Amino acid sequence: MRDVLPEEARRWRYVETRLLQVLLSHAYEEVHLPLLEATELFSRGVGEATDIVEREMYNLADRDGEGLTLRPEGTAGCVRALLQHGLLFNQTQRVFYSGPMFRYERPQRGRYRQFYQIGAEAFGFRGPDVDVELILLGRDFWRALGVEEQVELEINTLGSGTARGIYRDALIAYLTPLKNELDEASQRRLVKNPMRILDSKDPATQVLLRDAPKLPDFVDPEGKAHYDDLKEWLTEIGVPYRENPGLVRGLDYYTDTVFEWTTRSLGAQGTVCAGGRYDGLVERLGGRPTPAAGFALGLDRVVLLHQEVHETPQRQGKNQPEPNFAASADVYVCVLKEALAGDAMRVAEQLRIGLPGLRIRSHAGGGKLKSQLKRADLSGAAWAILISEEEMQEGRISVKFLREERAQQSLSPEALIELLQKQPES
Ligand code: HAM
Repeated sequence: MRDVLPEEARRWRYVETRLLQVLLSHAYEEVHLPLLEATELFSRGVGEATDIVEREMYNLADRDGEGLTLRPEGTAGCVRALLQHGLLFNQTQRVFYSGPMFRYERPQRGRYRQFYQIGAEAFGFRGPDVDVELILLGRDFWRALGVEEQVELEINTLGSGTARGIYRDALIAYLTPLKNELDEASQRRLVKNPMRILDSKDPATQVLLRDAPKLPDFVDPEGKAHYDDLKEWLTEIGVPYRENPGLVRGLDYYTDTVFEWTTRSLGAQGTVCAGGRYDGLVERLGGRPTPAAGFALGLDRVVLLHQEVHETPQRQGKNQPEPNFAASADVYVCVLKEALAGDAMRVAEQLRIGLPGLRIRSHAGGGKLKSQLKRADLSGAAWAILISEEEMQEGRISVKFLREERAQQSLSPEALIELLQKQPES
């Protein structure tokens, strides 16, 4: 589990805010869900034979002995909550959540034991229109962050639950005689979760899979029609996609459409957002049969991707100021005399009101102007504000340009606000 320190957290806040704006612009509603759920929710919801439930969950016993688990994902908890509060009864829902998830995985860049997801789920829609909507949300995410060139959409269909069962049996029948030639993990999966073998990265296993039965040949006609409609919509709207028949996802609840947004910019952990349809889950968790679909975006990975693409601070035009990620403040307020600290705080407040979005830091800790300006420089601020007795009396403030060859100016607070509003930060 890692710490997110100020420099990364600044970018993180920016990325997260942009993503939440996209969800709100699609009229998705936010829900807050607990980190701890009953262990049984995940064994039933995510599936006994999945990697997550078999060996990645953080389990603990409550004081009364009840088995609890730190949530490894958000979908099961989201369904539990909406069911518990009667929000899936005779109505549709579109919701989103964000926060940490926990999986005991081998950590590496882009894969952590505590990681953050933003998830969106839509309930009560049977047709592929909502699958398209969820995919469009993804496209809007990448556009909002300026990373659309780096991300690619992969889609597949798993067909109905019955179709999957028939395919599963066919796959077991094909692979069982070849068992000894499979890699170790695939040998383990053969009985419990054979479809995950399709995901194997082992080259020898991949060769064996070439002649294996193919999932698309088993998909039921209804599932096929759903998938064809989805592809038609995507083409019509102009969302490029790649069909990947090996895409089966690691959680058991999926039916029909599955999709992943992947990038080549992050090495092995390249899936930045993933999801699909899960028409059977609500019923499995005690509700009435309810069609559903959703996705979760891996925030840690998306922040890394944003950093790869936008390494240096930049702006995308006046209306969309992009913060200077290299700086911890934009404006640093200094005082020429310690007795003016109160005035400095008042001016700082005035600037915060007049310049929303800019980060205004007041000097603290006393000291000479020279050492205050050194701190201003270290903070990365583009401007230092100097508060002097004389100027206070005249209702003026001086601004020093820390990143530009430009003479200091003495201005009224209103003129100062106007000046800083117009300036690109460094
Ligand atoms: P998932 O594929 O397990 O799906 O996770 C979704 C995303 O979370 C991944 O694509 C990845 O970006 C991120 N992620 C997963 N594990 C880690 C990790 N250890 N470290 C960093 N990032 C990680 C789900 O969780 C489903 N609940 C998605 C969903 C919602 N399906 C329908 N609705």
